[in-house]
Amino acid sequence: MTSDPIDVERVRRDFPILSRRIGPAELVYLDSANTAHKPAVVIEAEAQHYRCHNANVARAMHTLGAEATAAFEGARGRVAAFVGARPEEIVFTKNATEALNLAAHSLGAGLGPGDQVVVSLAEHHSNIVPWQMACQRSGAELRWFDLTEEGRLDLERAAAEDLINPRTKIVAVTWVSNVTGAVSPLAQIAAQARAVGARLVVDGSQGVPHRPCDVAELGADLLAFTGHKLAGPTGIGVLWGRSELLEAMPPFLGGGEMIEVVRMEGSTYARPPHRFEAGTPPIAQAVGLGAAVEYLSAWGMDAIARHEADITAYALDRLAELPEVRLLGPADPADRGGAIAFGLADLHPHDVMQVLDSYGVAVRGGHHCARPLHRRFQMGASVRVSSYLYTTRGEIDRLIEALIATLEFFRVRPGRK
Ligand code: ALA
Repeated sequence: MTSDPIDVERVRRDFPILSRRIGPAELVYLDSANTAHKPAVVIEAEAQHYRCHNANVARAMHTLGAEATAAFEGARGRVAAFVGARPEEIVFTKNATEALNLAAHSLGAGLGPGDQVVVSLAEHHSNIVPWQMACQRSGAELRWFDLTEEGRLDLERAAAEDLINPRTKIVAVTWVSNVTGAVSPLAQIAAQARAVGARLVVDGSQGVPHRPCDVAELGADLLAFTGHKLAGPTGIGVLWGRSELLEAMPPFLGGGEMIEVVRMEGSTYARPPHRFEAGTPPIAQAVGLGAAVEYLSAWGMDAIARHEADITAYALDRLAELPEVRLLGPADPADRGGAIAFGLADLHPHDVMQVLDSYGVAVRGGHHCARPLHRRFQMGASVRVSSYLYTTRGEIDRLIEALIATLEFFRVRPGRK
């Protein structure tokens, strides 16, 4: 079923922070790939949980404990439904980074010398460093997809180098790049991984918040994503895994509630997902995330994806009007997410970001935790614009005006009167 187009003005009324001003200017928030804003229903769900149901879960046997446990497990069910999974396949972590570390530690426990792990140059550091550590521990070799000039995974080169081969045990790639916005050809990679018996781990941080997600179709064995980019709270992330794989994986962190029986001589472990949730979990944050996925589902993820595709295409068109912009990523809006990174003349991205901020326009300037990608394109850093369901074309116009003012400020262009 196709959802109706979203009414962006109504959406914006749901997000209290969007009425903020930055000095005299109205806020133009174009940093949602960094963290997304929260609708009032999410803020209220978390506050209401603390106000009325606060207790620890799965161990406090009183009424409040039962309510908190029901709320926490209810949130797990809502998140599972959001990605087409079963509740027992949803592990709550503190963020996507922890979810990927869990994957690298636990799945990586099966690696040994001679094995290979494949990542890509497009990865966020959180999908590189944990695999480097797993390779260092095990003696496995880390290899990676190179990128084409427009920032897509270079499948031809990968085929020529026999990148995915019978020694490959794990392939870990992003669904959508947080820098170039390029969407990875997951179906193709999943088929290649399956053909050699490798596991596919997908970093869904920039995918799950922005497009419909059905884990049955994605082709991944493990999928990591985070709450705060999904209009939910900070402090909560998710690792989805196929049941039989999670059942076979050893724990990551040890402690309370991840055990079956503890004896001084050794312990046995709970079944997933609790095996991977040591200690008091992010309870109120899970409740907030449950509210967030319900909120997004009410608008429809297909409608959100269409809205963002429109904003992205419009932003790419308008940025193309500025000859000083050097795009880092595909100029074609097809198979592209909403992150648009670029260099502006030879200005430092931090300087650009600061001048834009003085016009109320919030963007990210830096390497966006993706240094290897920037190195691949001989850039130290870039400016990144990213949108969400509340972004308007008018805000993109404000961005372009502020970029022109930035060029004038640094005398790259003759100034206005
Ligand atoms: N917060 C990181 C970003 O901005 C992941 O892309």
